[in-house]
Amino acid sequence: MDKNFYITTPIYYPSAKPHMGHAYSSIVADFFARFKRIQGYNVFFLTGTDEHGQKIQRAAEKQNKDPKEFCDEISKTFKDLSTLLNLSNNDFIRTTEKRHHKSVDHLWKILEKKKEIYLSKYSGWYSVSDEAFYSEDEIEDIDGNKVSKSSGSQVEWLEEESFFFKLSKWQKPLLKFYSENPNFILPETRKNEVISFVKSGLKDLSVSRKSFSWGIKVPSNKDHVIYVWLDALTNYLSAINYPNEDNDLYKKFWPANLHLIGKDILRFHAVYWPAFLLAAGIKPPLRVYGHGWILSGEQKMSKSKGNILDPIEIINNYGLDPLRYYLLKEVSFGNDGNISKEKLESCINSDLANNYGNLCQRVISFCEKNIGLKIPQINEFEAEDLQILDNYKNSFEDLKIHIDNQNINFYLNFIVEQLFKANKYFNDQEPWKKKDNRIRLNTIVYVSMEIIRKISILLYPIIPETALKALKIFNIEEKDIEFATILNNKYLFSEDKINKIGILFNKVTK
Ligand code: MSP
Repeated sequence: MDKNFYITTPIYYPSAKPHMGHAYSSIVADFFARFKRIQGYNVFFLTGTDEHGQKIQRAAEKQNKDPKEFCDEISKTFKDLSTLLNLSNNDFIRTTEKRHHKSVDHLWKILEKKKEIYLSKYSGWYSVSDEAFYSEDEIEDIDGNKVSKSSGSQVEWLEEESFFFKLSKWQKPLLKFYSENPNFILPETRKNEVISFVKSGLKDLSVSRKSFSWGIKVPSNKDHVIYVWLDALTNYLSAINYPNEDNDLYKKFWPANLHLIGKDILRFHAVYWPAFLLAAGIKPPLRVYGHGWILSGEQKMSKSKGNILDPIEIINNYGLDPLRYYLLKEVSFGNDGNISKEKLESCINSDLANNYGNLCQRVISFCEKNIGLKIPQINEFEAEDLQILDNYKNSFEDLKIHIDNQNINFYLNFIVEQLFKANKYFNDQEPWKKKDNRIRLNTIVYVSMEIIRKISILLYPIIPETALKALKIFNIEEKDIEFATILNNKYLFSEDKINKIGILFNKVTK
């Protein structure tokens, strides 16, 4: 059976330049994509920008720009950020592309043909910032302003002719779908929120707007543009060439394995999206994971709150891999995470420079001085060698399972623990005192190298650039990295040449 894996990030609104919250979604998705690749999967990793709708139209108007020209500019900053973050995405989709237009158009026509859409009138609250409709009990009055209770963004009253999707009809099928697919929504707490929202009753959903023009026109009525969320969600299909269901990408990668999103957009992905798909006769994705927010102080980091930590500035000051490591380790995945420069710095100094960087340096320079730049000759391992080497073998299945449940923290904790054990092993074994016992000295160095190799493979999805630098010691290249090789305790060949490497992480001095 083909091992295929399709993972997506949300497509970002190019209404302003990217911030740390966007970088976070992308880095996490890249982690999973890289992990599945070294596990032997054929991975399709998609990211992109969500360019239609009133929010973008207004942002463009504010700058007196044509919306397409405005999107071209800002979408490019998101694309550049993907490169800067070293994302291994296979595609970058923009909803203003023709291929996307074609898919949305087709999906709409199917829904219309199946009588899932009808024309009526919408009157109610709308938040342009969230591009979401809210019912009376979902809004509140703060200082004379009507705002959404969940996002805090301002809502405005809307009354216009609109096409509606028969969402109410899908309430029962959705509940059945959730109970038959208990891991469709993760984490568990979010799943419960979604289920109780659906249980509380679903109203038909307005899926077109008439009062502005920046979007994809309803095929049968050009006065309307398609609701931006129906448009945006379809990106996951357009990138794999839907509506051509016979093409290789679609056959291999639909249904998607994992839509990774922030918790604020769970309703769109876990309620509307599967309902649209079920209604169109298309299989829903296998999983939607709603991660927490990156907080600055106690608040969500966002442009409108003006509390943004700029990922580009952090990367320029500290480097990319420290940021990737820090976000993946310090934010308990699924929950909100408060980040700060101080915590980033102590993470660089302790885990990356002291534990990982130092381990690589001291083992290789000890080897160079005492054995030469080559893998030492060995005979048999002793009990304490196997004790440390076999940790990887013993945790192999667990690591896979935890990753498949998006338990990033289990994976990171395992690495931190192994780094600690590896340094302790080298200290306790004191190879510098074994110069009269070459066999033992060789074995200690060999074991330490095997550990560096295994840990570097585990670190590759997190800090790809640095892990590859470390693996250069053993002449291992990106294409050779396989997760399963951590099972092998004698992967390295005696007498093979090794390479010296420069410092992996510089300590931050205060
Ligand atoms: N365009 C929609 C998504 C459409 S997907 C078919 C959108 N865009 S967004 O740019 O506003 O947000 C994109 C993602 O970034 C969301 O998953 C959101 O949760 C995430 N983040 C935005 N700010 C965030 C934080 N401060 N912290 C973590 N992620 C947050 O919604």
